[in-house]
Amino acid sequence: MKALIAVLAGDGIGTEVTTEAVRALEVIGTRFGHQFQFESALIGGAAIDAAGVPLPPQTLALAARADAVLLGAVGGPRWSDPNAPVRPEQGLLQLRKALGLFANLRPVVPHPATLAASPIKPEILRGVDIMVVRELTGGIYFGDKSRTATEAVDVCRYTLHEIERVVRLAAGLARARRRKLTSVDKANVLETSRLWRNTVDSIMPSEFPDVSFEHMLVDSAAMHLISRPRDFDVIVTENMFGDILTDEASMLAGSMGLLPSASLGADGRGGLFEPIHGSAPDIAGKGIANPYAALLSGALLLRYSLKLEAEALALEAAVARAIDAGVLPADLTASPASSRPATTRAVADAVVAAI
Ligand code: IPM
Ligand code: MN
Repeated sequence: MKALIAVLAGDGIGTEVTTEAVRALEVIGTRFGHQFQFESALIGGAAIDAAGVPLPPQTLALAARADAVLLGAVGGPRWSDPNAPVRPEQGLLQLRKALGLFANLRPVVPHPATLAASPIKPEILRGVDIMVVRELTGGIYFGDKSRTATEAVDVCRYTLHEIERVVRLAAGLARARRRKLTSVDKANVLETSRLWRNTVDSIMPSEFPDVSFEHMLVDSAAMHLISRPRDFDVIVTENMFGDILTDEASMLAGSMGLLPSASLGADGRGGLFEPIHGSAPDIAGKGIANPYAALLSGALLLRYSLKLEAEALALEAAVARAIDAGVLPADLTASPASSRPATTRAVADAVVAAI
C-alpha cells in the first residue's frame, strides 16, 4: 500500500524518539512491500519559535491530508511561562480537535522483563492488560475559560453525542477483548458525570448485552488501578480523568517511556499516534530517551490507521524481543550504576534488527 505519514516531532525528546519510530516504520515498509512516504512539519514550541503559533496552518493541512500522523511530544521550560499568550500544548489540543480525534486509546501491558522497574509488586502486575479509552476533545480541556486578577474559570461541558460515541468505541474494543467495560466518573459530585453514567446505562444493556460493565468513581479507580490492576479490561473515561489515570497506569508498566497511544476519529483513518510521555527537557539532546513508546505508537499507527495488523504485530514482536534481550534505556534499568543503560539509538537498533 501507499501511505502518507505526517511526522510532527515537536520538542525535546520528541525529535529523538520520533526519528527512531520513522526508521522502524521504514524497515517495516520495505519488509512488507509498502510505500510509506514521510513528511515533517513543526508543532509546539518549535513552531512557536519558527512561526509564532504552536500549530501553523501548513502543519494542520499536512496532518489533515495524511493517512496518519506520528507525533513526538510538545512543551518545554522555554515556553512554559503561565502568563504566555501562546503555549506549545495548545498546538496539540487544536490538532486533536481539528482532526476530530475524540478517542484516545492507551494500552497498558507490563512486559515480564520490566516488572522490576515498577514500584508495584510483581505479583500484582502479572497478567495486567488494560486498554484505557480517554475522551479527548471535550470536557474541561475545551470548555470556556476566563480569568481576572482574582478569579479563574474552566468550564467542564459534555454533550450526549460526545459521550455516546466514545462509550460505543470503548465497548466495541471490550467486545474484542475480555468483554468487560469500566466506566470511570465522579457522578457523586459532577453533573457531567451524571450524564455520562446515564448514557453508559442506556447504551450498554441494549447495544452491548455481551459486554459486562460497571461504574467506578475516579478516586476509587485511582486506588484500584494500583491495588488490583488485573481486574480491569477496558476503561472508558472523560478527558481529564483519563489524562491523570494513564500517567498513574504507566507506573504499572514501569515507565511512561513504554506507553504508546492512538487518537482516533469517527472512521479510524487519519489517526494521531504519540507516546503518552512528554518532551522531558531534562534529558533532551542527550540521546538517552526511551524510544519504546514511540516505536509502539508506530505499531498502533499500522494497526488502527493503515489497517496493517500483521505489520503492527511484527513491530510489537520486535519490541518485545529487544526488551526480552535486556536492551533497556536508563528509565528502565533499576540501578544505572551497576548496569549500562542502552541509548535511544541502541534500543532502536535492537528493535530494527529484530523485525
Ligand atoms: C497527554 C498530555 C497532554 C494532555 C498535554 C501535553 C496537553 O499530557 O497527551 O496526556 O494533557 O492531553
Ligand atoms: Mn498527560
